[in-house]
Amino acid sequence: MTLVLGIETSCDETALAVLQDRQVLAEAMASQVAAHALFGGVVPELASREHLRCLGPLLDGLLAQAGVALADLDAVAVARGPGLLGSLLVGVSLAKGLALASGAALVGVNHLEAHLLAPALDADIPFPALGLLVSGGHTQLALMRSATDFEVIGRTLDDAAGEAFDKAAKSLNLPYPGGKVMDDLAGLAEPDPGLFPRAYVANDNLDFSFSGLKTALAQYVAAHPILRLPVLADPASMNPASLPEDLARVCASYNLAVAETLRIKVERALDRAPVRGQVRGLVAAGGVAANSMLRRTLAGVAERRGLPLLLPPPRLCTDNGVMVALAGRFLFEAGLTHGQDLEAIPRGRAVPRDFLPVVRA
Ligand code: KG4
Ligand code: ZN
Repeated sequence: MTLVLGIETSCDETALAVLQDRQVLAEAMASQVAAHALFGGVVPELASREHLRCLGPLLDGLLAQAGVALADLDAVAVARGPGLLGSLLVGVSLAKGLALASGAALVGVNHLEAHLLAPALDADIPFPALGLLVSGGHTQLALMRSATDFEVIGRTLDDAAGEAFDKAAKSLNLPYPGGKVMDDLAGLAEPDPGLFPRAYVANDNLDFSFSGLKTALAQYVAAHPILRLPVLADPASMNPASLPEDLARVCASYNLAVAETLRIKVERALDRAPVRGQVRGLVAAGGVAANSMLRRTLAGVAERRGLPLLLPPPRLCTDNGVMVALAGRFLFEAGLTHGQDLEAIPRGRAVPRDFLPVVRA
């Protein structure tokens, strides 16, 4: 039985969870979406301050709810990157203090790997698996050899899939973060497959680039200004009946373009080494994995290829503490832990495998 505390502060969610093996004993989360919505995107300085303000009270509530004392913990797992450096430092500092005070092991978790492991809460991931991570900050394809051994085989060259949604929504004056809003609106209309391009697929690689798609939408909106809401919509009072005609079709077509772009690269990865013939499952995770069109598209790929598709439930697609605790549990059980010199890794730098030497009994 392994008891792990998970700490997530890499972007704009302050999230904690206590996991006993696969059972979530308690979860706590303070979302900063409202604080950043005013600016139409995450403001790093504000994010760090909010983490610092929220973490202490959240932790007290969490431990009480779980009925767990610090001294009971086997490991304190923390998302150590990639992410916003100032935000990560808040979580990593707390994790170091708690590990010192409790005697639990300190485990630094790669935030991207944690996303891809989220489906393991409910099901065994059949390794090796192909993982598609699509979040607000990242788009990656990874060969998941095991729960602790990932090889990145494709990445985004510019915007992440979630950013492509958020920036498109911004150009329409839809509320931030726009992915969920565009997904909901898309459900009201049929997509026009020819409206937007499949971005960056006429090449031979597994990388992604969504800037062309974002520009295509911006140009379409410039040519059809009626689509753009007069003022930034308030999510609480948005009434689909009062929205510009055709907005839903534009959202559906954009949704389709993103989902098809991702499908093309996933299928390409499945067709070539080191994935071809090797993988036993397809995993998708990250905020955009909550997208209904993408979920349907990937289900089609998995069915045609005879592979199981593993998706986290929508609440575990966006940043959360459970995925960090779960990834930390896999590392801890494999003997992979960190010392007090654990570094936070900003976005753009590879997360090192700098574990303490494994001590074998
Ligand atoms: O995984 P996440 O919390 O971000 C990072 O860790 O970077 O995901 C947030 C992203 C946002 O860009 C949001 O717009 C997008 O996920 N998102 C969606 C949906 N729900 C959230 N995008 C498309 N469709 C959705 N249903
Ligand atoms: Zn994330």
